[in-house]
Amino acid sequence: MSYFKVLGFNKEPFSTSPDPEFFYLSKEHETALTNILIELRLKRGLSVILGDVGTGKTTLSRKLIQELKEREDFIFHIILDPSFENEHLFLTSLLRNFEISPARGNFSNGVNIGNGSQPTILDLRESLERFLFQKGVTENKTVTLIIDEAQKLSEDSLEVLRVLLNYETNEFKLLQLVLLGQLELHSKIMNIPNFFDRISFKYTLNPLDFDETKEMIQFRIKQAGYTANMHLFLDEAVREIYQYSRGYPRRITLLCHKALKNLVLKNKFVVDAGIIRELIDEEIKSGWHKRDLLAQKNSY
Ligand SMILES: Nc1ncnc2c1ncn2[C@@H]1O[C@H](COP(=O)(O)OP(=O)(O)OP(=O)(O)O)[C@@H](O)[C@H]1O
Ligand SMILES: [Mg+2]
Repeated sequence: MSYFKVLGFNKEPFSTSPDPEFFYLSKEHETALTNILIELRLKRGLSVILGDVGTGKTTLSRKLIQELKEREDFIFHIILDPSFENEHLFLTSLLRNFEISPARGNFSNGVNIGNGSQPTILDLRESLERFLFQKGVTENKTVTLIIDEAQKLSEDSLEVLRVLLNYETNEFKLLQLVLLGQLELHSKIMNIPNFFDRISFKYTLNPLDFDETKEMIQFRIKQAGYTANMHLFLDEAVREIYQYSRGYPRRITLLCHKALKNLVLKNKFVVDAGIIRELIDEEIKSGWHKRDLLAQKNSY
């Protein structure tokens, strides 16, 4: 029997997968989500969400997708890893994902390259523009591209996106773009003239505060089907978790997961400060904690 069933859960409460069902709407996550949805509705073009490692960007994107799935007038696609080697590959992948067949036969360097050959970059761009016009203007749909791990976008790929953002009618942009990335995305974007100016909504996700940490833990426990009428995590334990995790959702989740496994091993039913301190001590002794702190410093 799984450890979480022993404790009275239907599902694993602290899995690290970005499941929207376990998404706790902290004030910041809610502000980000609501504003992205408003920008999409107004077809304003570009939203950028920055956040340090493990602050909930991918989970937020899944929540956004869940919302968009409920709206019939949206056509969307998410790119999970935008490491494209060149413009051609990036554009080809966009066409494939939006199920657009590239119109071939444009003139390349004055020579008609005809059918059967690779579409040129111009072909790809034009096919994409035609698609965006057809969907956005003729069919009144909102075409949305979400890019997670956007800090991995190369300069060339950012330039592709900049060009796509130029496709517009008098009233709105034909492609809606949502970029979610780690903090270095900021400096990448700042280095590209005309990109930064185009952002209509920008936001940075910060770690949670103490109350939110507590609420997130309670929320996930409830979502996983825990119904017993007692506090599984004592306040003193949450305080330790907050201090160690500094409110970073991934660290909170990992620590809570370990704490519950420990509870079962020890045949206990409540997580107290002692259990959490023990787990943190183990991490420090094993050397992982130190490395983690270094990694964190680098990410600022
Ligand atoms: N608002 C939230 N509510 C509940 N759990 C969350 C929330 N935000 C993040 N988490 C949890 O924290 C973990 C990390 O979240 P996520 O993968 O979304 O972070 P990230 O910002 O995309 O990290 P990275 O920069 O490494 O890609 C996941 O296990 C996720 O379930
Ligand atoms: Mg992520």
